Amino acid sequence: MKTARISIDATNEISHIDDRLYGSFIEHLGRAVYGGIYQPGHPLADADGFRTDVIDLVKRLNVPIVRYPGGNFVSGYNWEDGVGPKEMRPVKLDLAWFTTETNEFGMQEFHKWLDTVGAVPMMAVNLGTRGPDQARNLVEYANHPKGTYWSDLRRSHGKEQPYGIHTWCLGNEMDGPWQMGSKTPLEYARVATETAKLMKWTDPSIELVACGSSNSSMPTFGTWERTVLDHAYEYIDYISLHEYYGNADGDTPSFLAENVGMDRFIKSVVSICDAVKAAKGVEKTIDLSFDEWNVWYHSYESDKRIEHWLKAPPRLEDVYTFEDALVVGGLLITLIKNSDRVKIACLAQLVNVIAPIMTDGSSAWRQTIYYPFLHASVFGRGSAISVSIDCDSYDCAKYGDVPYLDAVAVRNDDRGELSVFVLNRSLDDDISATFSIDGLDLAGEAEQISLAGYDLLATNTASSPDCVVPRSKHTNGSSFVFEKASWNVLRFRF
Ligand code: AHR
Repeated sequence: MKTARISIDATNEISHIDDRLYGSFIEHLGRAVYGGIYQPGHPLADADGFRTDVIDLVKRLNVPIVRYPGGNFVSGYNWEDGVGPKEMRPVKLDLAWFTTETNEFGMQEFHKWLDTVGAVPMMAVNLGTRGPDQARNLVEYANHPKGTYWSDLRRSHGKEQPYGIHTWCLGNEMDGPWQMGSKTPLEYARVATETAKLMKWTDPSIELVACGSSNSSMPTFGTWERTVLDHAYEYIDYISLHEYYGNADGDTPSFLAENVGMDRFIKSVVSICDAVKAAKGVEKTIDLSFDEWNVWYHSYESDKRIEHWLKAPPRLEDVYTFEDALVVGGLLITLIKNSDRVKIACLAQLVNVIAPIMTDGSSAWRQTIYYPFLHASVFGRGSAISVSIDCDSYDCAKYGDVPYLDAVAVRNDDRGELSVFVLNRSLDDDISATFSIDGLDLAGEAEQISLAGYDLLATNTASSPDCVVPRSKHTNGSSFVFEKASWNVLRFRF
């Protein structure tokens, strides 16, 4: 067994964590909406057609904000198609995923579902095939009280009070050639600025997320952010980051270190934001919205063989392994460590599509990645506290020298709780770590929750939904063992 030392000064705050760090994402894609959150006629569907088994699993995750309706889908979407009487709604082709969209589920249904799970929307507008006019109309429809064409249309649809949508995305991945209406940095910077202006003139209380790069390997990464910020700085509040991680090469030591890459990506975007701030000589700081992140690679091959124009076919249905759950845990540690600048993050996605929750015709179950997300979302509210770790490291192909342990703490004064999230990346060794915690009077035993001891490729499926589950024990003392390849939460009381 290896040894390590972990020191925590509980007053050493990184930042108060914005609850929206634990957001998620529902796109009109595959079976996320139809057959996922919405399935009228299913034995467990409620009167609105929402699956109550899914609602139950989503509620446990305590997701505060859900991005909608895309993703790539939004770049060809007419929001007007998803409001008003269902029988009047048009059936259309979706060119993002080559499916048929019935529009049976739209903005009205989404908001009703959000109310049921206790979350708020992060609404994206279409800057692919549309522009400022339709975006400002949508803000007027959603947020203006009454007495105008769009607000009265909403009222005629049975929604007297405004939706009051606070957080909006100015399009999606507009730098990507796969995107309907993709743009050069300057083209996007201009349309995002003009759209932002009109949206904020319609409702000055809203906040806006401009598209950053689709991932850190895009050829325009850096130039894109700088150009967008140069033009839109005054009108926007956040710039987005998207990144998906995978282990297609079977290089697990590198895969387990992917959060090192996420950290570098975040730091680069923060530097660009602050360089533009300095150049402009302004007080306002632009924060980050990491509004798509996850592991995504298992379904790549099967999704290359798709039949066009089906209604809600299975797509992007990654079946997650135990190893993926460890990576997701590492990514959450990095998001918490960067919570001084990352104010919103969305695990992409929530149900069936690269998701922690899966359904079939009869049941809903938790994928392996459900658990680290659950732990971070439930125990990771409060103030992020940095942790100092003295441990061995290993060499990996993608990121060089990487410490075996990674960790961050969160102090919650209301609950009198200090939670420490710890990833052990070692594939061979358990690590016994001695803790020293200053700045708090701890009381009683600590709880240690661990996801550990499984085959790296173990999964949860409909027939074996609880193959990979966390275990909990209570311990006294200042040393804790983190099993090889494990995700852990230590919960101290004070
Ligand atoms: O989340 C799946 C897709 O990944 C989204 O539609 C898109 O924004 C990204 O490329």
